[in-house]
Amino acid sequence: MTTAPATTVPTPTATAPAAAAPAATAPQARAGDGASQPAVRVRGVRREFAGREVLAGIDLDIAAGEFVALLGRSGSGKSTLLRILAGLDSDATGQATVPERDAVVFQDPRLLPWARVLDNVQLGLRHRDARARATAALAEVGLGGRERAWPATLSGGEAQRAALARALVRSPGLLLLDEPFGALDALTRIRMHSLLRDLCRRHRPAVLLVTHDVDEAILLADRVAVLTDGRLSLDEPVRLGGARHRADPTFTALRARLLTELGVVDDEASEGDGHQAEYC
Ligand SMILES: Nc1ncnc2c1ncn2[C@@H]1O[C@H](COP(=O)(O)OP(=O)(O)OP(=O)(O)O)[C@@H](O)[C@H]1O
Ligand SMILES: [Mg+2]
Repeated sequence: MTTAPATTVPTPTATAPAAAAPAATAPQARAGDGASQPAVRVRGVRREFAGREVLAGIDLDIAAGEFVALLGRSGSGKSTLLRILAGLDSDATGQATVPERDAVVFQDPRLLPWARVLDNVQLGLRHRDARARATAALAEVGLGGRERAWPATLSGGEAQRAALARALVRSPGLLLLDEPFGALDALTRIRMHSLLRDLCRRHRPAVLLVTHDVDEAILLADRVAVLTDGRLSLDEPVRLGGARHRADPTFTALRARLLTELGVVDDEASEGDGHQAEYC
């Protein structure tokens, strides 16, 4: 994108150089110039489709290592924003500064069926030791020993682990997750939450997680934002420590607040443990 007055949103380099982390920015400015510079800086981003405005001026900062969850009703524009940050949409306007390297994980793991798991993970990786890195990434997500497996032989959770390995092996400064656990069963989802939390602690990318699961957002994120009518109508820090429990009053209060913002009347919001709050 450019910083020019008639702004276009950047096309962050998905094929960024293999060098170490410093964030690059679109357009040709580099993020990370100052210690206080966020990894992601979005200002006035707009997107319309056929004259219908879906994003009406988004402002959002994400610090390096910060985990932001994005909620919003179906069709509110969450994936549209994520695609813009991934450089997959060149028709948006506004300004977005993003790290040089990003990685995206979608609900569908999108593994190439004709390539073995290890080859999927190292696909496009230009390091001399790509194979070793990919092997290590697979071990990190609990798929050590499955390098030669075909994608079709993986369970849904395993395939999504492979997709996470493929993302993290690139050492992204920004990890974009679009409902990555939406297709998984509840138990697998819990395990994936724990895995993702560990991976993010270790690798410290800035993270934007799009989800419909309010509990998932509170369990994982440092901040939760809500997209309503093309803008971020709420952007709340999650004031909970490392071990998060649904029964914690801070948890239930934030949950109720988010559900209200989403227009959901949730009778069980104060009942605590075990209740999964999803909306659509
Ligand atoms: N390429 C496109 N052409 C036309 N309309 C589009 C296009 N992409 C998205 N839209 C529209 O923009 C709106 C926002 O779509 P988007 O996929 O961002 O929603 P979302 O918040 O991710 O929804 P969901 O939670 O269902 O995934 C929708 O009304 C959608 O139909
Ligand atoms: Mg979507």
